[in-house]
Amino acid sequence: MKIVTTAAGMQRLARGWQRRGVKVGFVPTMGYLHAGHISLVKRARRLVGRAGAVVVSIYVNPAQFAPQEDLAKYPRDFPHDRALCRAAGVDVIFAPPDPEMYPGRATGDHSTYVVEEMLAQGMEGAARPTHFRGVTTVVAKLFHLVLPTVAVFGAKDWQQATVVRRMVRDLNFPLRLVVAPTHREPDGLAMSSRNQYLNAEERPQATILWRAMQHAKAAVREAGGAVPAAALKQELAALIATQPAARLDYVEFFDPESLRPVAAVRRGAQLALAVFVGRTRLIDNGRV
Ligand code: PAF
Repeated sequence: MKIVTTAAGMQRLARGWQRRGVKVGFVPTMGYLHAGHISLVKRARRLVGRAGAVVVSIYVNPAQFAPQEDLAKYPRDFPHDRALCRAAGVDVIFAPPDPEMYPGRATGDHSTYVVEEMLAQGMEGAARPTHFRGVTTVVAKLFHLVLPTVAVFGAKDWQQATVVRRMVRDLNFPLRLVVAPTHREPDGLAMSSRNQYLNAEERPQATILWRAMQHAKAAVREAGGAVPAAALKQELAALIATQPAARLDYVEFFDPESLRPVAAVRRGAQLALAVFVGRTRLIDNGRV
């Protein structure tokens, strides 16, 4: 397994693969890897085969954090990430330092961004106004450096995957984007690097996101048709409020492709939740 830390080095390697017709499977991450990331790596390997190359990027992208967010304390553990990647059969870790990804940013000398203007507006985009601009910018840069045949994103960040899919289409990136299922703890909590912020009191309460999703599914199943979204949102808000450490940021029912909110929730609608548990902001997503 190779570790590449320069943008030029990564692009050189990727160009070599391209010349030789080697398929490249790419999993972009911010590190602090867990079984959820590894399931994306395995999916990438299946997609490119043994003759292909699997690249994992590990880069905590400052451009997607607002000043008051958790950039400085975002968890990092490169030796652990390296061991997990090696065990999972990753070919290359791309782990650039900030000046490689954003030369000039520290001195205010970075002025080009990639902005998706429709799908990025609601939900995470409304709660974190500069977030998706940072995501699309760094993912576009990573795609230019890694030149993947296929990139694998997790379904937990459904809106992110949908925004990136749109960017790929609109800007003609020559790659396929695959969205892989969310990996969960046995009690339903979606795996996330941020789960490690939860203390012993908060951790069991964090399953409220999963329980809220199950509640919504059951409500729609029992109604045997459509349920008004406003009423169901209120029910979920009340359920979440039963947990003393939990505070709802938003709940939305929407069309999984257009991301437009729906007024009536039917089977096949997508549900997104953002909930603070203590000081930790968790998100989850699922099909109703
Ligand atoms: O989902 C993430 O971990 C990040 O948003 C990504 C896609 C690696 C971009 O920094």
